Amino acid sequence: DITPVLLAGGSGTRLWPLSRKSYPKQFSRLLGEESLFQASALRLAGKEEGLSFAKPVVLTNSDFRFIVTEQLAEVGIDPGAVLIEPEGRNTAPAALAAALHLAAEDPERIMLVAPSDHHIPDTDAFRAAIARGIAAVEAGKLVTFGITPTWAETGYGYLELEGPPEDGAAQPLARFVEKPDAERAAEMLSAGNYLWNAGIFLFRVRDILAAFEAHAPGLMEPVGTAVTEAATDLGFLRLDPAAWANAEDISIDYAVMEKADNLSVVPFSAHWSDLGGWDAVWRESGPDGRGVTLSGDATAIDCDDTLLRSESDRLEVVGIGLKNIMAVAMNDAVLVADMSRAQDVKKAVTALKEKG
Ligand code: GDD
Ligand code: MG
Repeated sequence: DITPVLLAGGSGTRLWPLSRKSYPKQFSRLLGEESLFQASALRLAGKEEGLSFAKPVVLTNSDFRFIVTEQLAEVGIDPGAVLIEPEGRNTAPAALAAALHLAAEDPERIMLVAPSDHHIPDTDAFRAAIARGIAAVEAGKLVTFGITPTWAETGYGYLELEGPPEDGAAQPLARFVEKPDAERAAEMLSAGNYLWNAGIFLFRVRDILAAFEAHAPGLMEPVGTAVTEAATDLGFLRLDPAAWANAEDISIDYAVMEKADNLSVVPFSAHWSDLGGWDAVWRESGPDGRGVTLSGDATAIDCDDTLLRSESDRLEVVGIGLKNIMAVAMNDAVLVADMSRAQDVKKAVTALKEKG
């Protein structure tokens, strides 16, 4: 059995105004019938030949706890545990807390850490990739999943292979480079032996614990105490706030992956998107012949390469003669931006916070 560990604590500010602090993107029906979180949980559920998943462990914060249980119930998934982080401390403390929680039952268990906001439409291909990583996991490796890079993204991690990527079993990894600058990213893109890190990790509980002990020893005591002192509350496991406050705010990529020397990668060649901004949502929603995607009460007249989306039950959105524009209307906020500025949407959230 593989235990899925679903990270559902991020706030997704680049998809404002749909994604809010109170209701972030992973819980929205951004593409299709299910929310991204539900789709992520369903991708990692069930038992089939060669691959079977245990009940998931979900990590989230107090505000989202009921959204998590409601959305899982809606798709018929029973969580093994919902761990509540007193505050967001990024993915390293979250993954470590899950590992320590699982270690109490069985340190030999295999866990799969997965974000809950990615778009991976081909579930079979995804599960096949996971199955290909198992042998490496059993040999004590920390397994990553590698995506063929298509632009010099600076917001991703890069996986340096020892040779060219090959479909099939996991390959050893020479190096892990998290969020390079633009120049490094361009070099790695053209080098040919780098893949993007999908942000999904597979390992045995005891191996990731050993990696944390070796590379991020300062997290062991605060996160360990937060787990052992956790309070049970309506079926949720609330990590101890005083101990948790002492855990460094750091991602698993920087804390462990950049430093570990027992990494492997399974190349994943099916479709993957981290839906990191409205430009990605536009691309993933299947633009028509002129590059237009519409959602909700939206109409485009003579527009090109444009996203028009109404999430409002009151507002009709109409675009005329637009090019490279994204417009998203909610009942209480409207975003209009140039498509090339999709990554700057998080600045709207900062600006509004400053305004109070
Ligand atoms: N529970 C919990 N608590 N979840 C969190 C927290 C937290 O404090 N912080 C982030 N997450 C969740 C996010 O919601 C997301 O689903 C996932 O963990 C990854 O965090 P991001 O903040 O989105 O990371 P990133 O996109 O900058 O980088 C990671 O993903 C890239 C691919 O999308 C890295 O792993 C990169 O190397 C990778 O390329
Ligand atoms: Mg992300």
